[in-house]
Amino acid sequence: MKKYEFPSNFTWGVAAGSYQIEGGWNEGGKGESIWDRFCHTPGHIKDGTTGDVACDFYHTYEDDIRMMKKLGYPNFLFSISWPRVIPDGIGIVNQAGIEFYRNVLTCLRENGIKSYVVLYHWDLPQKLQERGGWMNREIIGWFDNYARTMYRELGDLVDNWITVLEPWVISFLGHGFGVHAPGYQDYSSALTVAHHVNLAHGTAVKAFRESGLSGNIGIKVNMSMIYPEDPNSAADIAAANRQNAEMNTLFCDPIFKGTYPQEYFDYLVKQGVILPDIRPGDMELICQDIDFFGLNNYNGTYVKDGGRWPLYASGVNTGKPVTQNGWEYEPKCFYDLLKSINDTYHPKNIIITENGCASNDWVDDDGTVTDPIRLIYLRNYLKMLHKALGEGIPIKGYFVWSLWDNFEWAEGLSIRFGIIHVDYNTLKRTPKASANWYSNVIRNNGFES
Ligand code: NOJ
Repeated sequence: MKKYEFPSNFTWGVAAGSYQIEGGWNEGGKGESIWDRFCHTPGHIKDGTTGDVACDFYHTYEDDIRMMKKLGYPNFLFSISWPRVIPDGIGIVNQAGIEFYRNVLTCLRENGIKSYVVLYHWDLPQKLQERGGWMNREIIGWFDNYARTMYRELGDLVDNWITVLEPWVISFLGHGFGVHAPGYQDYSSALTVAHHVNLAHGTAVKAFRESGLSGNIGIKVNMSMIYPEDPNSAADIAAANRQNAEMNTLFCDPIFKGTYPQEYFDYLVKQGVILPDIRPGDMELICQDIDFFGLNNYNGTYVKDGGRWPLYASGVNTGKPVTQNGWEYEPKCFYDLLKSINDTYHPKNIIITENGCASNDWVDDDGTVTDPIRLIYLRNYLKMLHKALGEGIPIKGYFVWSLWDNFEWAEGLSIRFGIIHVDYNTLKRTPKASANWYSNVIRNNGFES
């Protein structure tokens, strides 16, 4: 048995996102979001479900926060639904929406739980989509106004802020491959969106500094360590480099270095892709000093040369075990990624803002939920984190995705990421074995294995 101990001030937490948990999609003066529209249009969500009710957190937050406290989770990361607080995205502020989040934040404080609040987790006001959404450069001003409004209305209750979440997903799943709302399939548009998302991040950090609020601000980026399927194939290595540029450096280079990956841009131009319109001052705006770099990671990515225009790099399965949603389980990829981020960008603080595992869990006759695969997953990913910490990589915290089973976007409600089981017929919550295991990890600030 080895003991895995974590630094005494290590931040442990659990994470969730507005559209995935809140429900109350048309209540309390909330405006429509692009995800409301997307889910209400048949054919987009694999199991035909929507986030109309989801976990019903809009109505159950008090009980949920009490359960969080009982389980001993000291930090909760969640997002604000932009159309709940500004229904048209710009203009009138919906006081009922503000009150909802003030109530949630107050309840967290009363229960001794610190908050990490994400400004944007994909539920763009539909009204802004009708004006071009993320493809319209005006979104930088809309986002600046939204961020400043949130700092003003909620700033006294929020402990930590996060600007945007998973810029690659917003750009490429939403605008390049049409898998997510708003469902566009155009690579050049995805690149333009990437630039606008990066700018929105920068503008929100700048606005935060100008607000005079205390607390920390960061970004939450999904990254994956990219490997060539055949390490001896020059073509696969080149494909892996292109994939790495699209997924990782397109976002991290501007944030940390104030530049875009030139080789990737040159390659795309040769493929006929239209590059984003980068104006004077843009790179400076993106490259703001952040208090922490939030990393979301679940798996590694293996690619081979070939596949669709313009990247000609395709993800492959390598035969490793897969979790419920088909992602391969290989904890070492997490360690490799942490090391690579640290070596490349030297961030001053890294927080693992998401990591977790989907599994097909059910409530047994005796009322318990055992989730052995998630237990294996979490334990072994934490071992990798521990190894990275031992090598001096400045990881300050870890958040499990997710606190509850919830609405998994295009996959719907059937993919279960929670450490708390949700019965969607009764909305009953049942902590799974992993929830109790995680409570012990937090209480002991480590585990033996
Ligand atoms: C990333 C996203 O932030 C979250 O919404 C999603 O449910 C998880 N990863 C799992 O796919």
